[in-house]
Order: sequence, then C-alpha cells, then structure tokens
Amino acid sequence: MAAKQPAHHQKEAWNSQLGVILAMAGSAVGLGNFLRFPVQAAQNGGGAFMIPYVLALLLLGIPLCLVEWTIGRYGGQHGHNTAVGAFGAMSHRRGFEYLGLLGVFGPYVIFLYYVFVCAWTLAYSFFAITGYYSGIQDEQMMRSFLAGFQGIEQNQYFHGIWVAYLFFLITFGLNLVVLYRGIEHGIEKAAKFMMPALLVLAVIFTLRVLMMGAPDPARPAWNVTNGLGYLWNPDFSRLKDSKVWLAAAGQIFFTLSAGIGALLTYATYLKKDDDIPLSSLSAGSTNEFVEVVLGGSIAIPAAFAFFGPLGIVEVAKSGSWNLGFVTMPLILNRIPWGELFGAIWFFVLFLAGVTSVFSLAQPLIAYLQNLFGWSRKRAVTVFGIVSFLLCQPCIFFLRQGFIDEMDFWGGTVCLVLFSLFQVIIFGWVFGLKQSWEEMHRGAHIKVPAIFKFIIKYVTPAYLLLILGAWVSQYHGVFVLSDVPPEKKPYAIAARVMMTLMIAALALMIPLARRLRRRVPELEPR
Ligand code: ALA
Repeated sequence: MAAKQPAHHQKEAWNSQLGVILAMAGSAVGLGNFLRFPVQAAQNGGGAFMIPYVLALLLLGIPLCLVEWTIGRYGGQHGHNTAVGAFGAMSHRRGFEYLGLLGVFGPYVIFLYYVFVCAWTLAYSFFAITGYYSGIQDEQMMRSFLAGFQGIEQNQYFHGIWVAYLFFLITFGLNLVVLYRGIEHGIEKAAKFMMPALLVLAVIFTLRVLMMGAPDPARPAWNVTNGLGYLWNPDFSRLKDSKVWLAAAGQIFFTLSAGIGALLTYATYLKKDDDIPLSSLSAGSTNEFVEVVLGGSIAIPAAFAFFGPLGIVEVAKSGSWNLGFVTMPLILNRIPWGELFGAIWFFVLFLAGVTSVFSLAQPLIAYLQNLFGWSRKRAVTVFGIVSFLLCQPCIFFLRQGFIDEMDFWGGTVCLVLFSLFQVIIFGWVFGLKQSWEEMHRGAHIKVPAIFKFIIKYVTPAYLLLILGAWVSQYHGVFVLSDVPPEKKPYAIAARVMMTLMIAALALMIPLARRLRRRVPELEPR
C-alpha cells in the first residue's frame, strides 16, 4: 500500500496568471495607497516628492519585487513556502534560514495590527450607510467619534470598545475563512472578486471627487483643481532634506509590500515555468496606478476644496488616520448622497486592506505547514488561536502607542533588513548569472540588462544608506529616549512580545528538525 502523503506534500498552487497578478496586487494595494501616500506626498514637497519616489521605485521597488518573486518561486520548487526554506535552498547554508525568519516575523507583526485597522474601515462603511456619523459637522466632534469608537474615550457616541471589537471579530473571522480555504480556493478566488470590485469603486469615487469643483461658491479658489495643484506642484527646495528621501523609500517598500516577505510566500505557489517579470510588473503597475492616480486624486484634493489652503496644511500634518477617519467623513457629510459615497470610500479601504491582510498572514501559516507537515486547516486553526491572543494588546493599548511600536519594527526596520538579505542572496550568494536565468525561466518579457547592475550593486548600496540614515534619524526611538514616559512601559512590552515571537519562531526550526528525524516523511522535498 502506498504511504499516505504528508499534508504539506499536497502542493498548493495558483490557478491562473490573472489570479496571481490580482492576489499580488491585492497584497500591494492597501491602506498605504489611499491614506499614507497622499499624506507623505503632501508633507514632503508635493510634486517634488515624486522624484525620490520614482527613483526609489526604479532602484528599490522594481528590483526587490523581481528578486522576491524569483526567490519565492525557487523556494516553492524545492518544497518551501517561506523565506526560511527558500533562503536555505538558495544558499545551501543553514545560517541563512535564520535570516529568512524576518520574512515570516515581519509580515506577522504587521498583520497583528493591520487586521484591527482594517476592521475600522468595515465599521465606518457601516456607520456611513446607516448615517451614524452623518450629523457631525465639527472636526473636534469627529475626532471624538473616532476616539470613542477606538475605546480611547467614553462619549455620547460609544460606550466602550465593543463595537470596534465586534468589527474586529468579523474581519478576523473573514480572514480565517479565506485562509482556511487555501491559495486557489481562498486567496485567489477572493482576489479575483475583490480587486476588480475595488478598482471599479475606487474609480467611481475618484470621479465623484474630481466633480466636486468648488463646493463653496463664496470661495471659488477652494476647488479640487487647486487641491491637485497643492498636492502636485513641486517644491524642489525640499529635496535637500534627507528625510524626504527616506520617506519616499519607506513609502515604496510599504506600498509595494516589498521586503515584507508576503510577496515571496505568494511566489512560492507559482509553477516552475510561470512568468515572473511580466506578472510582477503588472502587479506593481496596478499598485502604482491605484496609489498615484487614484490615491493622489482623492483625499488631499477633496480636503483642499473643503478646508482651503490653510486647513489643508493642518490636515496633511495630522497624518493618515486623521485624513481617512476624520477629514473624509466630514467632507462626505457635506456632499449629496454622502452616506452612499461614505460607504463606498470605506468599503474601498476595506477591500484594499483585507487583501493585504491575507498576504501578511500567509507566511506564518506556510511556515507551520512546512516545518511540522501540518495540513492547512490545522495550521490555520493554530494560527487563528495564537493570533487572536496576540492581537489583543494592539486593540486595547492603542492609545498607549502599542501599534506604533509594532509598526516601527515590523513595518519599517524589518523591511529594510529583509530586503538587504534578499538582494545579497540573489546577487551574491546564489550568483547573479544563475539568479537571472532562474528569473527568466518561462518569462514573457526580458528584463533590461541594466537591472543586473542595479540589483547587484545599486540596490544593496541604497539599502545600506537607508539603514544608516534611519538608525541615525530614529536613534531616539531605538533607545526609547524619544518615546513619551507614559508610553514607555507599553513600548517595552511590545518589544518583549516581539522578541518572544521571533525566539519562538527560531526555536521551531531545530524542533521541527528533531521531529523530522523521528518522523522522516516530514522531510521537505
Ligand atoms: N502594501 C500594503 C499597503 O499599502 C501593506 O497598505
């Protein structure tokens, strides 16, 4: 009788090229496109921001996507679905497996808070359509509404955090259902439905904003065209500030989901000869269209039209969450059919967010499957229980800065480090010639040869530069001296939690090896 195949040998794969592109684009397109990007652009020189942004796209974003897809597909062909196994397979050295841990840990850290923020968008979509905040015209009141919802203060709108918690449970549950159903029947199917819906709704919403004109006839200069001018007119003097360059690089990483580990894991489910260059560029271009064309035409131009040239400066300063959850609802309350458009806006954010969340969760699920030979269902169940517990501090200690700390390490530091490890493995350890051939197997287009030089020298040098600049710029955050005293215990608690997480992940590697020695069929191919 043939031996029963262990669960992880029943290899999962994407069903179609379109499905892969949409799932990858789903990972990339997120809240970063609609909220983070316009704020970053407005704060960092407007149109001039696009110079470091495009440079970072060419020298970091595109090369990293190509590298990440290639390492992922290679790992997948050797029975590994995370950076841990893929790094090991490419380097033939065990030490590299441990560097790959960042590609599991990083996305998981982001997952733990991103899923909660995603729940806010679903809740606000519901509040919009039911008119729950439609009577609020004042900014302070809208801030109170948000703070009440988040459980930060008790007020006339919310008594406790339970509404937010309910939406967290719904969002978390929906994620588990999709992840439980697997790559093809869960994530791919969801992306095939959600991404087109997102694009259609986002285009409709953008057109609605562009048609706003000048909402107050007494102030004709407060109009959307001038709002676009505010966002896009270049202030070249800002380019002398290194912070602007760092912000642009940070935005490129975050928006493309590059250097997180999410794209790598998705790429492990490609088939041996599935195209990489065209598919990765298609997913990246979809992301850039949504970010620059749609994301750049919505929130800031609309806010300019309603709050004018002085108001917009305050809006840009107050950050992404304020723009999305305070400024936008105030604007939507003042336009005809505001309830409907409000629901569309927040539902677009929800679709964008949730498709990113799938990709942030998948690396850890794949890690458990690969290491212990667990079935997807078992891995998702364990993942669900552990994640549910670890999400709690992000929910209940929001005010105390718990999410900020997680975001700093998971969403900033890990990305740059992990990107550096990837380009070193691709260009230096596996060898550029071999990596280049691997990348082009089954390719529909050829990547220009200049990218060989970029990947081998320019991208690593750029990453090292960023790392150095970040360490000096954020020195105070690293050593906690910039963290307000009342938030310090929570920042330390977050660090302890993350240290334990990465230690647990690292210990699983020798543990699984020992188990495999006892149960040899668990050995990956
Ligand atoms: N790439 C995702 C975003 O932009 C994480 O939000």
